Amino acid sequence: MTDISDFIHFEQHIAKLFTRLGWDVETAKPNQKGYDLVVKKGQHIGAVQVKWLNNNVSSPQLLKFSNFLDTSEAKQQFNCGFFITTKGFGGPARALIKSWGKDVRIFCGIATESQFKWERGLNGDNIDGQENDNISIENANKKLYFGVFTCKGGVGKTTVAAHLAGALALQGFDIALVDLDPEQNLQRLVGDGVYVPNPGGVGNTIEVFKGEDWHENSARNCKIVICDCSPALERNPRALIERFDYCIIPTTLNPLGINKHGKVIKDTVKELRNINQNAHLFVLVNQFKKINVNRFNLLKRNFLNTYQEISQTDDKFHCIDPEEVCIRSSDLLYYWGIHLLEDPHNPRSELAFKLVGGRCYPRDDFINLADYIERKTKIENLRNSS
Ligand SMILES: Nc1ncnc2c1ncn2[C@@H]1O[C@H](COP(=O)(O)OP(=O)(O)O)[C@@H](O)[C@H]1O
Ligand SMILES: [Mg+2]
Repeated sequence: MTDISDFIHFEQHIAKLFTRLGWDVETAKPNQKGYDLVVKKGQHIGAVQVKWLNNNVSSPQLLKFSNFLDTSEAKQQFNCGFFITTKGFGGPARALIKSWGKDVRIFCGIATESQFKWERGLNGDNIDGQENDNISIENANKKLYFGVFTCKGGVGKTTVAAHLAGALALQGFDIALVDLDPEQNLQRLVGDGVYVPNPGGVGNTIEVFKGEDWHENSARNCKIVICDCSPALERNPRALIERFDYCIIPTTLNPLGINKHGKVIKDTVKELRNINQNAHLFVLVNQFKKINVNRFNLLKRNFLNTYQEISQTDDKFHCIDPEEVCIRSSDLLYYWGIHLLEDPHNPRSELAFKLVGGRCYPRDDFINLADYIERKTKIENLRNSS
């Protein structure tokens, strides 16, 4: 793509490729939200989203486009969508695409100099042989351990552990969930496990273990282990805490909470570091409620300042920018769990990432989180070593 140096030229190039394939192409109005081109051929009227990127497409970008196509306004105008990019689709994005059933009429491709290479084509054609580099023998049998821990109760450890497992299962991983909290809320929520179907292929499992039943060999197929910890760190098996590669520390972002939670996070990090000096720690905002921009900025500054002190002495401590990823407060979470819903009108049972009016905030937020985690961690290696 030597001669294509900016978005405008890339968009024109895509228009040309569509025209060459017999489509009528129109450019959308400037500042049109949701799409860049309109293409028509026979029965098909498609919205085309053009992404000029130096990196791979992430799953939130695809979700945004599919949410747009679900709006009634878009449905009146279009019966399909095209997501066309420069470089490629990241692991989570590919997993999301694979999970789409036939009813999802979104086609995803890369525009090369002379043609489209389809990740998911209109005629079912696909890019074959995705690059499988980075295969590391060292990682071939390795499991990645995630802890979800904070020394405070009720801020969302169980919620985050269970739903993150759901999102990672949707992205193509078998997951072991280990319930270390004596309250065993996780088991109440998920039972002893669920099967997460994937309409585009083989699904994935989430298996649930009690702490005392967990053994490295208990779930040989699971490459990701997520531990829902007890808030009293000493009540969790030390051997497991030592294994954590990553730990997610849920917190809330509210004016009353910041100072108090600042102390909680400091204590949490100190306790974890006594046992495990290597895990990357990520603070995640949970139960986020919409507030006005000024207040948000004030809170965010306060939030980041509070944790700066820790970041300065601990280079494996990270605060996830709530503007990039946070888990919104949602009543849907309560019903959602990860139970499978049996819908009599839909022969396919679904993970209870249930859409309401075409939307499901928790689903988007947790897929966003899973995508973020895949970008920041070594999960990609697990994908390649399977
Ligand atoms: N993002 C959220 N939106 C709405 N309710 C939430 C959210 N996260 C957690 N909750 C609710 O808050 C309560 C405590 O969450 P839980 O995950 O059990 O915390 P912990 O495991 O840290 O004790 C639960 O009733 C849960 O449903
Ligand atoms: Mg809990």
